[in-house]
Amino acid sequence: MTILGIESSCDETGAAIITAENNAKTVKLLSNIIASSITTHSKTGGIIPENAAREQIKYIIPVIKKSLEESNLKPSNIDAIAVTYGPGLIGSLLVGVETAKTLSYIWDKPLIPTNHLLGHIYANFISNDNDKDIKFPAIGLIVSGGHTDLILIRSHKEILWLGGTRDDAAGEAFDKIGRLLNLPYPGGPSIERMAKDGSHGKFKFPRPLINSKDYDFSFSGLKTAVLREVNKLEKLSDRTISDICIEAQDSIIDVLIEKTFKAVEEFGAESLLLGGGVSANSKLREEFENRIIKNNLNVNLFVPEKYLCTDNGAMIAAAAFFQNDIKAWQKIDANPGLYFDQT
Ligand code: KG4
Ligand code: ZN
Repeated sequence: MTILGIESSCDETGAAIITAENNAKTVKLLSNIIASSITTHSKTGGIIPENAAREQIKYIIPVIKKSLEESNLKPSNIDAIAVTYGPGLIGSLLVGVETAKTLSYIWDKPLIPTNHLLGHIYANFISNDNDKDIKFPAIGLIVSGGHTDLILIRSHKEILWLGGTRDDAAGEAFDKIGRLLNLPYPGGPSIERMAKDGSHGKFKFPRPLINSKDYDFSFSGLKTAVLREVNKLEKLSDRTISDICIEAQDSIIDVLIEKTFKAVEEFGAESLLLGGGVSANSKLREEFENRIIKNNLNVNLFVPEKYLCTDNGAMIAAAAFFQNDIKAWQKIDANPGLYFDQT
């Protein structure tokens, strides 16, 4: 089966083509085109939804065209179209959804509406390694700009939400702290870069909800704690910024690790799948691996290649391959508030 995946939920416009045999455990990537409007948003220090939607309109047809060209395929070679229908910004989502519906109609192809959050987890199923075997039950941690969620995956068809953030998402915390420190947008990669030169111990930040019994997260207090420290400073030198970044990054990672491994233990997970923009963070990837080695845990960690952590069409096509929930195009609507079934 060969699937064209379309992603337009926020500030990236993605189109990608994947292919896989019917019972395959992973899918192969044939092309993956992403147009990002990050430079437009860095001028405003964040995303203005109307601007994001306008950029989506500009890029959607070119990225689809290029994804076909790069994979040397014609529309007639495509078996199905997958599209993100939520969650996300309504204006941005509509561009991808309406384009996909139109193509489904004129090319006469089945359409698979796909949950963006699941897409981040399914980025782990894109591989050229035929032996890659992700066993269930699995715990999935989605850490993106808009979401921080823990899910239990018993099978491709049985996915339960365990908990999520009560306020800011992990990526949002990185972005807001980055803005407080006058770092370029998006904050996550900027903080990771600055943290490399930081020293521990100059600042101390809270680890919200780290010991709570549920699987909820809260990151807005961390941002406030950073703001309080910044307000006390006379001058924000690069050195001080780095010292703040290393501690703020550690606070976020520590909480994510504690909660995620609590879920791994409670549900006896065989696999742990990370996904979303924040999972591109090298320190986070390292710390998750270290925890498994240090505690001799019997769980296999999977993290997508870095270029598949942030938004892309490939992860949407991969999720669609395994979920395979085909729907008539007339019945598909963008759903900005789409979420998971709750436990
Ligand atoms: O998954 P994504 O591309 O978009 C959403 O679905 O939200 O994630 C974007 C988020 C941004 O908040 C960005 O700051 C964060 O991912 N991010 C990072 C890193 N790269 C991207 N956060 C920490 N470290 C990184 N290296
Ligand atoms: Zn995303």
